[in-house]
Amino acid sequence: MSGYHIPVMLNECLEGLHINPDGIYVDVTFGGGGHSKAILNKLSNKGKLIAFDQDEDAKRNLPDDKRLIFIDQNFEFIKNHIRYQGFEKVDGILADLGVSSHQFDEGSRGFSYRFEQAQLDMRMNNTSGVSAAEYLNKSDEETIAQTLFLYGELNKSRAMAKQIVAYRQRKPFETIADLKTAMQGFAPKFNDYKFWSQVFQALRIEVNKELDVLKHMLEATTDLLKPGGRLVVMSYHSLEDRLVKNFVNTGNFEGKQEKDFYGNVLAPFKVLAKKATVASEDEINVNPRARSAKLRIAERINGQ
Ligand SMILES: C[S@@+](CC[C@H](N)C(=O)[O-])C[C@H]1O[C@@H](n2cnc3c(N)ncnc32)[C@H](O)[C@@H]1O
Repeated sequence: MSGYHIPVMLNECLEGLHINPDGIYVDVTFGGGGHSKAILNKLSNKGKLIAFDQDEDAKRNLPDDKRLIFIDQNFEFIKNHIRYQGFEKVDGILADLGVSSHQFDEGSRGFSYRFEQAQLDMRMNNTSGVSAAEYLNKSDEETIAQTLFLYGELNKSRAMAKQIVAYRQRKPFETIADLKTAMQGFAPKFNDYKFWSQVFQALRIEVNKELDVLKHMLEATTDLLKPGGRLVVMSYHSLEDRLVKNFVNTGNFEGKQEKDFYGNVLAPFKVLAKKATVASEDEINVNPRARSAKLRIAERINGQ
């Protein structure tokens, strides 16, 4: 399992969930199962864990455990799936967003710029949707520019999109090498890691509709969590973290505080720590991936 993915801030997430051994918990991002297995260890025979992962590969990490229900689907429709399984409310929901180390390290998935000959895919569920190559071959220039700017925070996004369209007129995008050749002129000569990470992040977010599915999932948590139930979310880039932070603070994604007729603040969650929790230096030394993780923990408040 650790070769697949090392769980980040495992103890902090477990503490955040504040596990009731007889409770019902949801891990919407099963991956290598590190967090899920630790949750199962804390549950009694009456407890249940419902885990989601849309990536076929995650199934190979499933433990043989009757308390676990695995749903091989996108967590976007979490509420329908939980209800379909016969549960109305749950005690805690954990989300460890983004892709697993396995997905990064498996060259054929196209998530990492290290593997030039790999297909430019980047879908977490590579049986549905549009790959990054198809996206770059079919989208108009303005749409591509917006994706690079909004999701990759790349300043020269219009010029980059122009270059992408010029490239595909000569040759359709197929591999990571195509993307690197098309964008090479924009990459800094030295220390180009950050640049390529931004490009790949932008395409990954677009291809997997990451921000939209996150919003839908977060919205569903207000209906799904029991009063006192915990929402524990770990994100790895600021676009996600901003959505999570605003949502737990105010119940909306704009971070707009709403009040009732009497001036009482309306918020479905109590935030348990104002600042996001980050990984310790010790953890980062062992698992560099933990460096960018931001953990937010909130408790569902009765009735709002
Ligand atoms: C960071 S990894 C989770 C690692 C896991 N906590 C562990 O300890 O191994 C994220 C996982 O969530 C899955 N995932 C991401 N977004 C998803 C979504 N919208 N629906 C279902 N699964 C998703 C990915 O396929 C990946 O396996």
